[in-house]
Amino acid sequence: MRFPKRPWAEPFKIKVVEPLKVTSEEDRKKYIVEAGYNTFLLRSEDVYIDLLTDSGTNAMSDYQWAGMMLGDEAYAGSKNYYNLEANVQKFYGYKYLVPTHQGRGAENMLSHCLIKKGQYVPGNMYFTTTRLHQELAGGTFVDVIIDEAHNPQSDFPFKGNVSIQKFEDLIKKVGEKNVAYITIGATVNMAGGQPVSMENIKAVHALAHKHGIKVVLDATRAMENAYFIQQREAGYADKTVAEILLEFTSYSDAATMSGKKDLLVNIGGFVAVNDWDLFEELRNLVVIYEGLHTYGGLAGRDMEAMARGIEEAIQDDHIAARVNQVAYLGNLLDEYKIPMVKPYGGHAIFLDAKKFYEHIPQNQYTAQVLAAELYINSGVRTMERGIVSAGRDKDTGKEYAPALELVRLTIPRRVYTQAHLDIVAYSVAEVYENRKNVKGFKMVYEPKYLRFFQARFDKI
Ligand code: F0G
Repeated sequence: MRFPKRPWAEPFKIKVVEPLKVTSEEDRKKYIVEAGYNTFLLRSEDVYIDLLTDSGTNAMSDYQWAGMMLGDEAYAGSKNYYNLEANVQKFYGYKYLVPTHQGRGAENMLSHCLIKKGQYVPGNMYFTTTRLHQELAGGTFVDVIIDEAHNPQSDFPFKGNVSIQKFEDLIKKVGEKNVAYITIGATVNMAGGQPVSMENIKAVHALAHKHGIKVVLDATRAMENAYFIQQREAGYADKTVAEILLEFTSYSDAATMSGKKDLLVNIGGFVAVNDWDLFEELRNLVVIYEGLHTYGGLAGRDMEAMARGIEEAIQDDHIAARVNQVAYLGNLLDEYKIPMVKPYGGHAIFLDAKKFYEHIPQNQYTAQVLAAELYINSGVRTMERGIVSAGRDKDTGKEYAPALELVRLTIPRRVYTQAHLDIVAYSVAEVYENRKNVKGFKMVYEPKYLRFFQARFDKI
């Protein structure tokens, strides 16, 4: 008897559950109008399946919850800080750690320390908060990702890679002294959760160091990136995710981290560095913005949950189930012939809104419309990742018009079952079927910073 490939399964069973609320379509139409057609402004209790984000929405394990009871809530020198420090050193390989309340706290401080006014900060596509902190520190972000990243149809396996040519051209154009550092996001959220190869980060590191430029890793989903390297890059199939992650981080000088993703917690982050002088500066800054350097805006119990989350998240069976659950949804949508970014991302499936609603131009917020329609159809909440998220050019004030106009279906870790994802796929298919008569939006309220969080829209 011949079997197909052995299926994967979650390496856990469920001990605590939270009931879901099902609403009527009539109610949802009312709720989305009240929310200005922005899924960020919905009340979570009016959401059925919440795929807004994988950030802070993960389910903790019994081991993590047990750790919460061991919180050492001292103002200074909490033992949970030392547990976190030990695991960051062991699994990420950096020497010095400053905890922060979440990723953007780390970005704020690092940008402040490393960017001089007028300098350029190249990166493999922007991330919203990362770019804003670089701009607020006086820097100018420059996208040096490979062209394939901007093409939803390209099936290149490492669409997160830096174009070494673009990076080199920038150094030549502005001079190495005017490059503050290079940020490597792994995986690249805005490109569709796409990974960076080991070969690429190694080449980036070599070129950067030749010019005395630091490499800063955005390690938010670096474990998922390591899993893709194991699956896709020659020479890594027999290595563990833990071994791959350590090699990957060795090609960077520092990292900012949102623990709310890979690390299976609801709050927490850190900045980790190898350079003592930089550490001293960060350790001094953290007391202004976050809290003492041994808690950085977190309770002792939060640091313990994150320390333990690192140990669980790095396991090969965990990360395989996590990434394969995302692919499960991707495969279902593929059967319905839904236009989306390929290959599937590590944390989410990204629908291609431009292909979905070919009659709605990007300046009528195509992806925002799609996210609203999905919510109305089934109560599934998703997030716009297109022109609204991209915001405006800080110098000209013009709206960016990114090539990618996407809706992100983000899978929280250890939260939903395959049956939930069956419902999600069915709902996307229904919305696709009824795509013809849907109308575009105009923006009626626009906040100054990170407008996607609080902007409001109306039907045209
Ligand atoms: N870097 C990346 C790649 C991120 O995805 C995020 C957050 C951050 C940094 C900032 O971290 O939220 O802890 O301050 N991404 C969330 C998301 C918000 O939904 O993708 P934070």
